[in-house]
Amino acid sequence: MAARGSIVGGALAPHPPHLVYAENPPQNEPRAECGWEVLRWGYERFRRDLAKHSIDVIVVLSAHWQTYIGNHFLGVPHFKSLSVDPIFPNLFRFHYDLKVDVPLAESICERAAQAGVVTKMMRNPDFRVDYGTIVSCHLTRPAWDLPIVAISSNRSRFYYNVEVMQEQMLALGRATREAIEASGRRALLLASNSLSHRHFTVEPEVPEDMSREHIYNHNQYLWDMRMIELLRSGKTREAVDIMPEFVEQSVSEADSGALTWLLASLDFPSQPAELYAYGNVIGTGNAVLAWLPPTPAAVS
Ligand SMILES: [Fe+2]
Repeated sequence: MAARGSIVGGALAPHPPHLVYAENPPQNEPRAECGWEVLRWGYERFRRDLAKHSIDVIVVLSAHWQTYIGNHFLGVPHFKSLSVDPIFPNLFRFHYDLKVDVPLAESICERAAQAGVVTKMMRNPDFRVDYGTIVSCHLTRPAWDLPIVAISSNRSRFYYNVEVMQEQMLALGRATREAIEASGRRALLLASNSLSHRHFTVEPEVPEDMSREHIYNHNQYLWDMRMIELLRSGKTREAVDIMPEFVEQSVSEADSGALTWLLASLDFPSQPAELYAYGNVIGTGNAVLAWLPPTPAAVS
């Protein structure tokens, strides 16, 4: 008998390709000496905590799959290709091979449409999966042993304004939660985005030269700390309330809607988020933080 599904947990899982580059997985062509250890060790501790829980599927909303008419969902069971970062082809040439939970994607897509969000299933088998989805999923689950549901970022923040983005993401979050509960799946949710996102315009000769890595801008850093403190103290409704201001003032990748969607899907947890790491990548602010149950989820 299919048990009632649930969202096991959720995480802010940023996607700088530099982190995959520095890990040297076999799927990535470029080789690194080291780099961005604090964030990578944070991801490692997140993975260790995650291993205590039983999960069937990862649902990810990525800032780098950008669609202007609604939110799209990967709708093909299997994708295999090469993903090359357009800005950093020297760091990220990743051979991916992933499976999609198409029935769950269809269910979220349909429920969101019923709630008034424009949605579409993406059925092109030759579609190139975006590197945000790939990096966040790889750093969360490098074994690639679980299917994913990948959701695009509707650029409503740009096409309309940040308030429209907020409204749509709250509706999409509710639809995501309802669809997962009806599916019988145990799901982990990932918001694939950085916090503040002002970055360097010149890359060091050695990309992993950590003597060059630092906070880019004090005001952006202060915004990151404010957002992290809200999430760490369980003030997630307040975090959503200040999201428009945060997005405007810190050039945040939360402009993708991913973080608002995550918090809405989790129904605004009052449980403090566990912060695994905060660190900079080419000056951008990145936090790895998660809401996971305090004890292992019951295994049916
Ligand atoms: Fe990004």
